[in-house]
Amino acid sequence: MHKPVMLDEMLGWLEPKQGGVYIDGTFGAGGYARAILRAADCRVFAIDRDPSTKNFAEELEHDFPNRFVWLLGNFADMCALAAMHGVQDVDGIVLDLGVSSMQIDTPARGFSFRRDGPLDMRMSGQGMSAGDVISQASEDELADIFYYYGEEKAARRIARAVAAARAVEPITRTHQLADIIRRVVGRKPQKTDAATRSFQGLRIYVNQEIDAVKNGLKAAENLLAPGGRLVVVTFHSLEDRLVKRFTHSRCGKLGESSRHAPTRRAEAEVPRFFLPRPEKRTATDAEIAANPRARSATMRMMTRGMSI
Ligand SMILES: C[S@@+](CC[C@H](N)C(=O)[O-])C[C@H]1O[C@@H](n2cnc3c(N)ncnc32)[C@H](O)[C@@H]1O
Repeated sequence: MHKPVMLDEMLGWLEPKQGGVYIDGTFGAGGYARAILRAADCRVFAIDRDPSTKNFAEELEHDFPNRFVWLLGNFADMCALAAMHGVQDVDGIVLDLGVSSMQIDTPARGFSFRRDGPLDMRMSGQGMSAGDVISQASEDELADIFYYYGEEKAARRIARAVAAARAVEPITRTHQLADIIRRVVGRKPQKTDAATRSFQGLRIYVNQEIDAVKNGLKAAENLLAPGGRLVVVTFHSLEDRLVKRFTHSRCGKLGESSRHAPTRRAEAEVPRFFLPRPEKRTATDAEIAANPRARSATMRMMTRGMSI
């Protein structure tokens, strides 16, 4: 079962209020949504792109009648999803990015290099699977996926090994791919498995996670009422950098310094979010001891300013 990460910190920032309306953009097993519903007599609209999260949603529908709505979809589309229920602005939004323990721990979903399964990795179950990407992408495309989304230095060598291996037999299983990667990277004594970064890259590509985060943050900016609060929890540096760049570009600090980006500069000068100090937090040692997933979590918090 999924243990929610930094739950107290999330609630402490969101401060759910009576009659408030909240969006949980990454419903998962509903740990965040349940905590928000318990904290105040408010309403929660919860989004997840994974149809299997419906089981957890049914429990919340039962426990919080007329206060909870589950929506199947991408949080990048949260404005349209909320509008379907007549919601134009909300008091708070939470995004707890990445995959859930249920997704990682179910071998048939194909996210894990520790347990063998089909190379799938699709959160929504729709579109190209990881196996399709591994069999159809060119060697250069694979190298880019491992390098940019996995931040894997050996990306080019891994892509070459994958291309050579798939010419001999189809790569369809997570263990097959993990073994190819480990043979390239080597089994040096290190904290993380050699396949971690490449699997992350492939998962991000398959689920178009970077576009979802960029569009989700813009959607949250549009949907939050003035004074509304946003909480974003990330689990790797690529995602955290995206969130940091976005928030800094919206709070009067310039996230990027390109002189070729006049629009971005103009936007940055109008603070649309205010950041607390500190603007980010990490899990306590006690939580990390109880839940190893919390080790890589970074929570960023912000408040929506006045509309322009
Ligand atoms: C880390 S889990 C969230 C756990 C949740 N906070 C809880 O307490 O149970 C992330 C969830 O977000 C979903 N997800 C990831 N990206 C998404 C996206 N772009 N749109 C909608 N759901 C997404 C995943 O399917 C997964 O169920």
